[in-house]
Amino acid sequence: MAHQTVLIVDFGGQYNQLIARRVRECGVYCEVHPYTTPLAELKAKDPIGLIFTGGPDSVYLDGSPKVDPEIFTWGVPILGICYGCQFMSHTLGGRVTEAQDDSAREYGKTVTYYDTSCPIFQGLPEQGISWMSHGDYMAAIPEGFKLVAHSDACPNVAIADEKRGFYGVQYHPEVNHTENGLKMIRNFLYEVCGAVGDWTMGNFCKTTVERLRQEIGGGRVLLALSGGVDSSVLAALLAEAIGDRLTCVFVDHGLMRKNEGDEVEAAFSKWKVNFVRVNAEDRFLIKLAGVSEPESKRKIIGAEFGYVFRDEAERFHITNEDFLAQGTIYPDVIESGKGDADVIKSHHNRLLPPEVVARFKGVLEPLSLLFKDEVRQLGRELGLPEYMVMRQPFPGPGLAIRIIGDITKEKADMLREADAIFREEMANAGLDRTVSQYFAVLTNVRSVGVMGDGRTYDYTLALRGVTTTDFMTADWARIPYEVLDKVSSRIINTVRGINRIVYDITSKPPATIEWE
Ligand code: XMP
Repeated sequence: MAHQTVLIVDFGGQYNQLIARRVRECGVYCEVHPYTTPLAELKAKDPIGLIFTGGPDSVYLDGSPKVDPEIFTWGVPILGICYGCQFMSHTLGGRVTEAQDDSAREYGKTVTYYDTSCPIFQGLPEQGISWMSHGDYMAAIPEGFKLVAHSDACPNVAIADEKRGFYGVQYHPEVNHTENGLKMIRNFLYEVCGAVGDWTMGNFCKTTVERLRQEIGGGRVLLALSGGVDSSVLAALLAEAIGDRLTCVFVDHGLMRKNEGDEVEAAFSKWKVNFVRVNAEDRFLIKLAGVSEPESKRKIIGAEFGYVFRDEAERFHITNEDFLAQGTIYPDVIESGKGDADVIKSHHNRLLPPEVVARFKGVLEPLSLLFKDEVRQLGRELGLPEYMVMRQPFPGPGLAIRIIGDITKEKADMLREADAIFREEMANAGLDRTVSQYFAVLTNVRSVGVMGDGRTYDYTLALRGVTTTDFMTADWARIPYEVLDKVSSRIINTVRGINRIVYDITSKPPATIEWE
């Protein structure tokens, strides 16, 4: 593809996706690779720069993550962040140690002083807040480097070797708490790496359509369509590439929101694409009966989706010369686990059984390197209407991961009704445009209540609302009490089986958006 690339070498830090997000925001394409990736593989990507991420380890301990030190003779500029900075310093002859007293160990917002003659701090104020999170510090910096930032507690906050294009910062420029953090990353990309800002959705769209045409040749594609933003955008992209050789299969697994199946069908019936709806509620509920463990639910659903697609491929005479396509996006790939990172959640479309994959010539995932807001932008490029592009996400496993504990049709119906009321009241209050995602969760907690003159022993429903742009970090939405009050009394009065409502006030991290 005709664009520059920056590689992010992942040492296991919690903000690594955010670094990638920030680089893309600067108009530069980037990819995240685990630190275990062989150097030759990184070199083959011909990057204009490297970013070493943070990570939880101490670089001076045996067994801590390291990359081949030859990386420093390659001639590509490097920005090291937190652990990445310590790794660079340690490897090039500096000394990293555990901070012995609290003054050099820094967490949180810290006043920091910058040398603005350094390219990465160019055009910034000389003083600002940076976000620190480190117990180790650079006691001595390597030869050839100079100090370019300090704080009151720590003399060595940022280092630079301008000749080699190596920069290291002890704090996290990628988090919003660091004032001008984005500008520092931008400076590294444009002033040090020579970025030209050639990553735009217009370019991506053109080159991807071209690449898909070549890869698919004269073949056909069966698209796994959920009706959500990602798969709808992919439908438009594939329709642009191959026209009516595309068949979109929408599987209603019985765990959709109220009326959702009909709405998806109505929306796609208006399009000039081959659209097929499969009603598979029984099939999914039988497989899920008695299963409570979240990862097991996800795995069962992912596999069953695969089997439905395989059956539909038979029905439509799609051969092994044809392709299956899925709207997987980058966070699905990263959060489903890559390299050494912890698996947070296995996203359903990463769980196709091997025999299903083998049934097709290949599986196409053209959005797998895009973030959610990039997918939305791509949708606009392709002319999708705004209501479709801005729909709030709905996870592939649907209500299965919003019913805590085992799943039954009765619980799904109860949740569907309650969720519909919540959504309706949010729309009535005009909050559907400002709250990024909101939904109800049926917990498996039952509690005692009193209704009329009788005792109840019913389920607790949790309401969740978040604001976010990238869905990788999120804050809980400050929904006005009056709206919550209305939702609560409507649900309690009309949905049998629920006698208590709570509101979830946790951000991501430490929680995730969905409960499972
Ligand atoms: P979490 O719960 O991980 O969710 O904070 C982040 C975003 O991803 C959605 N989500 C999924 N989407 N398949 C999907 O297509 C999945 O398996 C899945 N799990 C979570 C979630 O709704 C939120 O928008």
